Amino acid sequence: MASKELLNLLNKGIARELQVSIQYMWQHVQWSGVKGFAVQDELKSIAIAEMKHAEKIAERLFYLGEIPTTKPEPIFVGKTLKEMIERDVKDEEGAIKLYKQTIEVARKEGDETTNRIFREILEQEEEHHDTFTTLLEDL
Ligand SMILES: [Fe+2]
Ligand SMILES: [Fe+2]
Repeated sequence: MASKELLNLLNKGIARELQVSIQYMWQHVQWSGVKGFAVQDELKSIAIAEMKHAEKIAERLFYLGEIPTTKPEPIFVGKTLKEMIERDVKDEEGAIKLYKQTIEVARKEGDETTNRIFREILEQEEEHHDTFTTLLEDL
């Protein structure tokens, strides 16, 4: 079965997914200014994607015999659009780093399913990172 290290990485992933899911949703609600029009739909759809990630990882973690955390990492909403998206770029970078590490450990333990789940999520986090980076260029 999965090591404690891998289980902890999955729970860390869930805490981050819960955080950004709420963070992007509240940023979607609190956006302002003309430029916010271009950003708000992206924030909404990415918030929903992050919620699905949280669920997917939680299902896997529960199957592996661990209780998924309900506690998000600290949420940062921000005041200006620029402040919001700057932080979101950093959070996506953090997710990419964490999931590469998770894939590495899953691979070492021969856990093909966890490996595959996180490779799929990683691809989406890179897309989010690309989206936020592109939006930031114009803010
Ligand atoms: Fe995610
Ligand atoms: Fe993401």
